Amino acid sequence: MQIQIFQDEESLHRAVAKELIEAVKTKPNTVLGLSTGSSPLGTYANMIKDHQVSGTDYSDVVTFNLDEYVGLDGTHSQSYRYFMNTSLLNHLNIPLNQTNVPNGTGDLKEACESYEAKIVSAGGIDLQLLGIGTNGHIGFNEPGTAFDTRTHVTQLLQETIDGNARFFDSAADVPKEAVTMGIDTIMDVKKIILIAYGSKKAAAIREMVNGPVTDSMPASILQKHQDVTLFLDEEAASLL
Ligand code: GLP
Repeated sequence: MQIQIFQDEESLHRAVAKELIEAVKTKPNTVLGLSTGSSPLGTYANMIKDHQVSGTDYSDVVTFNLDEYVGLDGTHSQSYRYFMNTSLLNHLNIPLNQTNVPNGTGDLKEACESYEAKIVSAGGIDLQLLGIGTNGHIGFNEPGTAFDTRTHVTQLLQETIDGNARFFDSAADVPKEAVTMGIDTIMDVKKIILIAYGSKKAAAIREMVNGPVTDSMPASILQKHQDVTLFLDEEAASLL
């Protein structure tokens, strides 16, 4: 695991955006794995700015998102599809039919299987962006998720529902289930960049980096991945 520590959020986001932009410039048909939550927002803003100023070309890029809430379709303002379109994808020259977010409505078993198949037929994910939950979840793989899981439907823990309630009118409106890439799906990607900032993430970062590899801390499995870089601010790195 490599670790880069930044003095402030803005320099962290500029550095992560640079990695993604370089990947796309080097391989125009890069398969990007994207994530939601507040962690990548500044990175996406920097990618949009670069696209407007330098015209980085995304027309051959394919994207796969980590997860989606069950029951929210892409028109719902809190769905991860809506988040991705408005926070990044609508602002780049990427055809939306090359962008993939798990389907959280309809036949969920079929949605999980077809998502895995699509990732395989795209040739696998080259570069995956990750955030981390305060309980160590990656995607929506909560503590206790087996390391050998592929894309599946998962029950959200109350702490995750509470953590994400700020985006909804109330905690009662947060879906209780999600479709998420599994841990094994994430471990298959070629390169991982994990973003974390703020003191709330410090304990999870410490456990992920220095703790035992255990399914009670899902992100700890990343110790076994061959190409992971953590982009942290000083607060998130403060317990290392
Ligand atoms: C959600 C997402 C995760 C994300 C996490 C952290 O649970 N499913 O992919 O990493 O939130 O969110 P934030 O970046 O807002 O702290």
